[in-house]
Amino acid sequence: MRDQAEKLRMKMMESQGSLGKSIAIVSGKGGVGKSNFTMNFATVLAKAQKKVVVVDMDIGMGNIHILIGKSVQYSLREYLTGELKIEDVMYDGEDQLQYISGGSGMSTILEWSEEMFDRLIEAFEYLQKTFDYILFDMGAGATNWSLDLLASVDEIIVISTAEPTAIMDAYSMMKFIHLKDAQKQFYILCNRTLTYEEGQETLQRLAKAMQKFLQKEVAVLGSLPEDPVVRKAVKAQVPFVISYPDALISKTMYQMANKFMNEYDGEVHAQQNQSRNFLSKLKGIFSKGRD
Ligand SMILES: Nc1ncnc2c1ncn2[C@@H]1O[C@H](COP(=O)(O)OP(=O)(O)O)[C@@H](O)[C@H]1O
Ligand SMILES: [Mg+2]
Repeated sequence: MRDQAEKLRMKMMESQGSLGKSIAIVSGKGGVGKSNFTMNFATVLAKAQKKVVVVDMDIGMGNIHILIGKSVQYSLREYLTGELKIEDVMYDGEDQLQYISGGSGMSTILEWSEEMFDRLIEAFEYLQKTFDYILFDMGAGATNWSLDLLASVDEIIVISTAEPTAIMDAYSMMKFIHLKDAQKQFYILCNRTLTYEEGQETLQRLAKAMQKFLQKEVAVLGSLPEDPVVRKAVKAQVPFVISYPDALISKTMYQMANKFMNEYDGEVHAQQNQSRNFLSKLKGIFSKGRD
């Protein structure tokens, strides 16, 4: 393991500056719109010529591919067990968007062999070098593996709705992650708002709670309105930013994604150093007790 750590460190240094950003999309409460946000956000990033890969972390095969009218046959599991190459478990969406089904493939592996672990690191190294953004759509249910992943990614987008229960759960989720890694960059987003003020209030409550109880500053991504086009787009299996580009939610999503690319893009790259890197963290967590 020590040799591998050294090898990895060397590789990371070689590729400094050109690494993609890894981002997990989470919520405390389920059903708040993570998958719909992820696929539409990813679609806008891809339309802006960014290379984007979405990794579906939901249990089972997940469902992100359904939202874009595609199918998926294999998951990361077949890659980890050595049956398939990484390219064989990656699927093409529109523009430069690609997706991988990761969920059950990962969580049902009970015994991680050293080869599997090496393959995992190799895969993420490849993703970091190949893509500008690696988005993890975190599903329901906190498996050990997904908690490790959350501790490793560069940034976290936390989605809440304006309901007090969802806000409380979003706060608990951030607290949990913050206690594992106090350096983590959080972005908060309020989905399904009925008024602009409702979104602002929710985001302020969340940001203030983080500040007051954890002395942690979070970035505000903004809010997305409740909009019937979401449901229509899900049915049509075409992201709403494509099928309903003039809807308020789509316009807001374009603004949000542009702000994210332009204002925040440089920050993490500048912060990224060997010790804080996604891969080294993942490696650190997975190799505990293995050395
Ligand atoms: N802004 C919105 N306006 C209206 N409906 C929404 C909105 N966001 C999500 N939904 C609906 O909420 C449900 C859950 O969304 P989904 O993205 O699957 O959530 P999650 O991935 O968090 O479980 C879906 O039926 C979707 O159509
Ligand atoms: Mg989902």
